[in-house]
Amino acid sequence: GKDGYRHYMEKELHEHPVAIGQTLQRMIDPATRRVVLPELPFDPESLPRVSITACGSAFFAGFVGRYWLEALARLPVDIDVASEMRYRNPPLTPGGVGLLISQSGETADTLGTLRSLRAAGQHIMSVLNVEHSTMGRESDVVLGMVAGPEISVASTKAFTAQLTVLAALSVAFARARGLIDAAGEQALVASLLDVPSRATEVFAQGDAIRAMAAIVAEARDVLYLGRGICYPIAQEGALKLKEITYIHAEAYAAGEMKHGPISLIDRSVPIVAICPSTILFDKTVSNLQEARARGGRILAFTDAIGAERLRGIAEVIVVMPDVDPFVAPILYAIPVQVLAYEVALLKGTDVDQPRNLAKSVTVE
Ligand code: M6R
Repeated sequence: GKDGYRHYMEKELHEHPVAIGQTLQRMIDPATRRVVLPELPFDPESLPRVSITACGSAFFAGFVGRYWLEALARLPVDIDVASEMRYRNPPLTPGGVGLLISQSGETADTLGTLRSLRAAGQHIMSVLNVEHSTMGRESDVVLGMVAGPEISVASTKAFTAQLTVLAALSVAFARARGLIDAAGEQALVASLLDVPSRATEVFAQGDAIRAMAAIVAEARDVLYLGRGICYPIAQEGALKLKEITYIHAEAYAAGEMKHGPISLIDRSVPIVAICPSTILFDKTVSNLQEARARGGRILAFTDAIGAERLRGIAEVIVVMPDVDPFVAPILYAIPVQVLAYEVALLKGTDVDQPRNLAKSVTVE
């Protein structure tokens, strides 16, 4: 049941800390503070490339994963939505890894891509919540996210659990490729282990998130902005808003705004910025100033240092706990999803069963 929550989505939002914590428990040896992977059919050191594919929220998790795998493990990464990757016929070196991400393990587009990646000689590694699924059976290696059942059509805790798996995987690959030593690994693991309690603190920001929701609920169009590893979190926020509130939302890399979408901006198009002070912050601030100068109303998710800088620019600020920039995307995904939920409450939409959508899309 819903355990006293109004919707499954609300319950599952509150399960973020547990989902992240359980996933870390599965992947980290508490004694050594090292990431433990299941046995791999390939050597990460000589891996030519990783091809990430997924749909919807799982795709945005994969997009964050690309930043981590590139920056930490220095791996060449290709990423695409499954319905495109499947038919793109990219040149693949046999021995590469096809990395599929799926909550259900049954999504038709992702499963079809799994099969075509296998046919192209790739090792198949999947990040799944339902491990005993079709994708689970057809994978060489399954990395389980330990999120528990997710009932709400809008993905919540499975998303942060996917991110957690991908972060830990990137650390393990970085170590295997000789790019970090034991101390480096322990430091990254420590910042991961810190996330569940920081995630709990996010729920203290309910009033600020509801102040944002009141503005967003009045809008017809909303722009989500982020840079670097927070850009996919902007995309996740825009998807969640579209899905459950039927408000049109678009995500842009903040630096790309001036190349087109800035012409949309006026008082009626709120701008939701995902901008911890630690990730390309000065550049994001100047992008937000450009929007502000054109009458845009800025709603910002940032930390205490970022909040100081954004006073006078942002109309509402959700002040997030301080975390290592490595784990920021995991933490910032949470309030962005809560915002969509709060807007849906104001709009009175069917949160758990949005129109036209199914939890698991098993047709192509
Ligand atoms: O089960 P999967 O993770 O493969 O599902 C992928 C997408 O259909 C899913 O993430 C969808 O976008 C959600 N409704 C997002 O909230």
